[in-house]
Amino acid sequence: MKNVLVITYSQSGQLAEIAARIVAPLESAGHRVHVETLLPETPYPWPWPVIDFIDAFPECVQLDPPPLKPLVIPVGIDWDLVIITYQVWYLSPALPVTAFLQSPHAALLRDKPVVTVVACRNMWLSAQQTLKRLITDLGGQLRDHIAFTDSGHPLATFITTPRWVLTGKRDRFFGLPPAGVAAPEIEGARRFGSALARALHADEERSGRPMLTGLRAVTVIPRLAMSERAGFRAFKVWSKLIRAFGQRGQWRRRPLLLVFAVYLVTLIITVVPLSLLVQWLLSPILKGRMAALKAELEQPSGSADHLIEPHAP
Ligand SMILES: Cc1cc2nc3c(=O)[nH]c(=O)nc-3n(C[C@H](O)[C@H](O)[C@H](O)COP(=O)(O)O)c2cc1C
Repeated sequence: MKNVLVITYSQSGQLAEIAARIVAPLESAGHRVHVETLLPETPYPWPWPVIDFIDAFPECVQLDPPPLKPLVIPVGIDWDLVIITYQVWYLSPALPVTAFLQSPHAALLRDKPVVTVVACRNMWLSAQQTLKRLITDLGGQLRDHIAFTDSGHPLATFITTPRWVLTGKRDRFFGLPPAGVAAPEIEGARRFGSALARALHADEERSGRPMLTGLRAVTVIPRLAMSERAGFRAFKVWSKLIRAFGQRGQWRRRPLLLVFAVYLVTLIITVVPLSLLVQWLLSPILKGRMAALKAELEQPSGSADHLIEPHAP
């Protein structure tokens, strides 16, 4: 029997559902699992009022989270595996998980194998890079990464995700697909739990190697990766600038937040489709580079799927 710590936080319940699918096979296999649900001292709203939604941006990118309520992680347990689940807020880890990684509790990650699980619209590369850096700085060893994304077209999700987050409605809308991770994908999260349960029985968590290859843990779309990189660079500059005008909730930074919101919408309706079009046109020339980029960004767990069948529920 192994000890597994799962860190989670969810607003709509989507990430909580995914975490539950991963945990179930671990528990059935006899491992002891503690699920720690992060609770911000002041809860974030769901759905988000538009002002609060935009005001959260600078602190997300600058990794400056408000505090959490005291955690109830059992003490004195030598964790064999830590699973950190998170969502992406403004191309960065959601503030509750950032708060956890900056809390004294995160010291428990030292020398521990860590699996990260993200569920978001579709842009998680920058957030994962940040998370990986935070985990490595704490002495943790990132062993695997699993990404669940919205299966809708990237341009459709620019409408359906904000609609979901700002109104709570995620149903089909003007011919656009429902927002969020599709139900069969959520159900399929069980395969990662069963693979981890078997890996723990075989002491594979101590091997230093990934445990979830062959299960299509991640699928990177290189065209989106390029837009994301450019967007994240701009986000860093904007977030610093807005913070120079005032702290979270202060009125004096709101005019600049409004300018940022206009910039963001303009970017989404002009630059993003244009860059996707240019990359599509150049795809015959960029094919080799894109394939190399895809393979690099899909590390450590990869997009191969030859082992999905044996782990199917
Ligand atoms: C403030 C905020 C910012 C977000 N920014 C992004 C983003 O940059 N990229 C992305 O793929 N999803 C983004 N999302 C969507 C979330 O990652 C997530 O899919 C959604 O909030 C539902 O997660 P949950 O109900 O499990 O908490 C954002 C959501 C919120 C609330």
